[in-house]
Amino acid sequence: MAAHVIALANLKGGCGKTTLSINLASGLARRAEVGLIDADPQGALRHWSGWGEAKSGLPRLFDDHDDAHANLAAAREHCDFVIVDCPPSLDMNVTIELLLHSHQVLIPVLPSPLDLWASADTVKAVNQARENGNQSLSAALLLNQTEPRSAMTRAMQNAVAGLGLPVLPAAVRRRAAYRTAVVEGVSVYQLGGRGRAAVDEIENIIDEVTSP
Ligand SMILES: Nc1ncnc2c1ncn2[C@@H]1O[C@H](COP(=O)(O)OP(=O)(O)OP(=O)(O)O)[C@@H](O)[C@H]1O
Ligand SMILES: [Mg+2]
Repeated sequence: MAAHVIALANLKGGCGKTTLSINLASGLARRAEVGLIDADPQGALRHWSGWGEAKSGLPRLFDDHDDAHANLAAAREHCDFVIVDCPPSLDMNVTIELLLHSHQVLIPVLPSPLDLWASADTVKAVNQARENGNQSLSAALLLNQTEPRSAMTRAMQNAVAGLGLPVLPAAVRRRAAYRTAVVEGVSVYQLGGRGRAAVDEIENIIDEVTSP
């Protein structure tokens, strides 16, 4: 079976691409062979994977090559799923090139109209990848760092409608566990009780992402 490639992309910085890459890959690694690709030259995933002690149950980081595309090709050969952590970038072509090799893209966005509007260029990158040959690329917005009572306001609904992409029903709350896990070099799955609520929501996303 060919690897299913899922990109976490947003040209805007700091919306959760790396955090969600780590945790989605770790959840998928409980059921399949998973490779992680760090397409960000800042190399946050390399630091992360060098930190923790207990490495069992974590996805494999493919970083033998300097070039993200070479790492992606290697991961595709060995894995059932490949998660690509895309860079924030003013150069949209870097992201478009990665999306040309992806089956699916999740676009993390913070739950505000401003952050949704700021993702318009990322939606353009998705459309470019579709027009340049990857017609079947599936794409969805993924709300990250939501608060218990944050609702989709009218302004947010309008912004989403303007972007023209679906919003994944499962969202990710703002939780200390996500920060703690990264600092400890693990994912929320290795945090035991401290990570349980986060694990539940990551599992919901995996169910939605992997259901046909
Ligand atoms: N659901 C969450 N709950 C709490 N903190 C979060 C959550 N998601 C992300 N963060 C924190 O927000 C910050 C930005 O997240 P992250 O580095 O994953 O974003 P990014 O999109 O990869 O950023 P960049 O564009 O710089 O690569 C980090 O400090 C991270 O720990
Ligand atoms: Mg990042």
